Amino acid sequence: MGVFETVVIALWAMLPAYVPNNAAVLAGGGRPIDGGRTWNGDRLLGDGKTWRGTAMGVLAGAALALVLNAVRGASSDLLGVGLPEFPLAVVFALPTGAMLGDIAASFLKRRTGRQRGAAFPGVDQLDFVVFALLLSFLAAPDWFGEVFTIPVLVVVVVVTPLLHLSTNAIAYALGLKDEPY
Ligand code: CTP
Ligand code: MG
Repeated sequence: MGVFETVVIALWAMLPAYVPNNAAVLAGGGRPIDGGRTWNGDRLLGDGKTWRGTAMGVLAGAALALVLNAVRGASSDLLGVGLPEFPLAVVFALPTGAMLGDIAASFLKRRTGRQRGAAFPGVDQLDFVVFALLLSFLAAPDWFGEVFTIPVLVVVVVVTPLLHLSTNAIAYALGLKDEPY
């Protein structure tokens, strides 16, 4: 498989995991998931993880996966790349995993004394990838093995932090996000 094909498949397969974070930023607000609860004096998750943001993030990612399924044939022809179809379990596993990873990272941040919005280099950029991949593997192991080959996984791990940093910088510049990371 060529480099172009590998990159296109990596981006296509991860799009339903990329969008939830951005959708959560746009839709966030309302009741925090932890309900204000603390552990050893620090918030369990913090006000940055809300029910509304999480639900809208999952819905946005799942909706995108369904749209990608619908335009898969035409896109494959256009790009000259055999793009994968998302099984229904993966339609939900990718965005749910992305949101869970982000929540797990906030849990870890609060346990390590980082306040809401504090940067956690590395974790911020890859938390959602690890959990999205893990949940997809559990949801559809055979599909996962076919799509996420080693070269595709390498592209995902290299390209995701770059995409994450640039979209967050744009959201920050537009005033949608409080920090540029
Ligand atoms: N958001 C949300 N629910 C989520 C994730 C994000 O409502 N599950 C919204 C919140 O308004 C949050 C914003 O998106 O403030 C930015 O997300 P993020 O950077 O993940 O949260 P932070 O506020 O930086 O908090 P943390 O330090 O816990 O990451
Ligand atoms: Mg943040």
